[in-house]
Amino acid sequence: MTMTFVSRLQPSLLTGLTLALLLTGCGGGSNSGAPVDDDMDPPVEAPVEPDETPPLDDTPEAPVMDDGPTINLPETDQGGGDDIDLDNVDLDNVDPETLPITLTPLPAVTLSPEGISSDNQPPYFDDLTDQVIFAGQEMNLVLAPKDSSGQVPGLFTSALPPEAQYIDNFNGTRTIRWRPLQPDVGIISITVTAIDPVVPLYRIEKTIRIQIVMPEDESTIPNLPPAINGIEDSVVRSGDTVVLLVRAVDPNGTVGPLDALNLPPGATFTQHPEEDDIKILRWTTTPGDFGVNELRFRTTDAIDASMKADKSFFVRVADPSEFDIPGERLRALADARSFKFGYASVLRWYNMPDADLYAATAAQDFNIVTTENSLKWGLVNPLPEQYRWDAADELVRFAKQNDMVIHGHPLVWHRQLPQWVQKLKPEDRRNAMLKFIREVVNRYNNDIQIWDVVNEALEEDGSFRQSTWFDAMGSSYIASAFKQARLYSRNGELLYNDYDVAWENAKSDAMYSLVQSLRASDTPINGVGFQMHLTTAFTDYDSVERNFQRFADLGLDIYITELDIGIVDGGSEQQQAEAYRKVLSLCLNQPACQAYQIWGFTDRYSWRKETSPLIFTNSYQPKPAWFALQSLLQGD
Ligand code: G3I
Repeated sequence: MTMTFVSRLQPSLLTGLTLALLLTGCGGGSNSGAPVDDDMDPPVEAPVEPDETPPLDDTPEAPVMDDGPTINLPETDQGGGDDIDLDNVDLDNVDPETLPITLTPLPAVTLSPEGISSDNQPPYFDDLTDQVIFAGQEMNLVLAPKDSSGQVPGLFTSALPPEAQYIDNFNGTRTIRWRPLQPDVGIISITVTAIDPVVPLYRIEKTIRIQIVMPEDESTIPNLPPAINGIEDSVVRSGDTVVLLVRAVDPNGTVGPLDALNLPPGATFTQHPEEDDIKILRWTTTPGDFGVNELRFRTTDAIDASMKADKSFFVRVADPSEFDIPGERLRALADARSFKFGYASVLRWYNMPDADLYAATAAQDFNIVTTENSLKWGLVNPLPEQYRWDAADELVRFAKQNDMVIHGHPLVWHRQLPQWVQKLKPEDRRNAMLKFIREVVNRYNNDIQIWDVVNEALEEDGSFRQSTWFDAMGSSYIASAFKQARLYSRNGELLYNDYDVAWENAKSDAMYSLVQSLRASDTPINGVGFQMHLTTAFTDYDSVERNFQRFADLGLDIYITELDIGIVDGGSEQQQAEAYRKVLSLCLNQPACQAYQIWGFTDRYSWRKETSPLIFTNSYQPKPAWFALQSLLQGD
């Protein structure tokens, strides 16, 4: 059944009214598990017990506000317009005002786990229809899953627009409340999943498309105030050059003037060469700037000049001696042992205000660096045939300038994939994977010596992760990836990398079997990466020692690839120091252990900064963990 569905309502009728569409959908089901949020970090490595299964449902939002009269958009007459596969609409070039949405409800997929009794019909939505709404109008989309049993199904959705609210109506229905603005014009898809009240893995999912179009009278769109982003207070050494990218943001998508109100002498504030809404502060500090300096910025609304937003940037200029550390630095001690001791580099550190201090600290303490984010697919290859190498190129340049080994991370992973890859037909994914590996490894073949070829292919229970890659190729994608990487990196160290596998458990058992079978089938794998995202609550280091040994006995190199140790449950920096020392000791005493790599070094840029997991504070002061590492590296 296809219908062309375009709102007939004039914008004036819509002003101040809400578009509430009571949605109940029809049959079908889902193969999805809990919502996969590409940016959702994996669970931190639990002490020993695997982490709790993420909640099936998410937390209720504020209660529903009464929003006045609601209207159901009239269904237009059948037919009209050719079928348009919205998934292939080139949103950058389509004129939304001419694009009728053709209702082609996506096939719903039912997950029917074994043993479902025949009288248990899956939950359903009476009707899920594509929507057309005007920029500036508030949409209240009520999602009402139903079940033939009369019980209330569970419900969750895929990622919603950042400004949207997901409101629990405390009656089994949820409301997606959203007021799109000019930048939202286009088409978005939202997948809604209903969970069977009796058998939670029995689900249906349906995808609806929402097209946002401009109203005839743009003045009906509320003009919201601008703001300033990109400012994080910093500490620098006198003599360092502060680089600060200041971004003027306006919810209406317009870019107004952005001014510095009190530039220090010699400082510049210039337009970013590519980004209209960013200006770059460059300021080389001097001893005369010691102390906290407040630099003030102001942006003015492009439509209404009376709307302004000010923001201050506080930067403390310190005496360089504040960052001196007694004794030998960690890199010198590691070099003396010919031991790889590394960190993961924050993305585009050179655009951070404390770039000089960051780089100096890295060069003094580490002889190997991992690309934390600069080689991730979503960043490097956001669109087909479009590549962004700047961040990785700059890191490679820095590493070579400082005679560091480079650890490339990751080639094949299930997260941070660009939309276009996630939407590939299964039969096209193998070629895409092989092409990405070729493009990346070929480009850096002479610079990057170690590769995380496949990252996190296993679940906590040891089963294969149902990922974009596994769904298309089964577990064969793993060997294919390694063979492809070897084609372009003739001498590189090719690793399988994962988390929650450093000690003996179902997942590390599965990893052991996996690498055993890879070796048995002559797959070119050299080693394994134990990420080791730990906490101060972790205690089972004996199990880590035994686990390291069994992988070493396979003839594999061992890399500690992403170590960080969060301070949790009343833990202390001293306990953290002890933990860092224990892991280093395990590596130094295991001949197969090739590298000890920390997932960053200053808490300021850690992916889990709230647990202060690294060896420097936010203001680059060494923590007890740093001294514990120094002590062990110098043989104490
Ligand atoms: O670059 C964008 C920036 O333009 C934007 O303004 C900002 C706010 O949305 O996001 C920035 O991208 C973020 C990226 O880190 C770079 O900072 C992503 O949102 C964020 O999700 C991403 O998080 C990274 C995460 O992997 C997901 O890729 C973490 O920094 C990184 O530490 C973490 O590392 C993973 C390893 O790759 C694999 N092992 C687990 C480890 C921890 O999750």
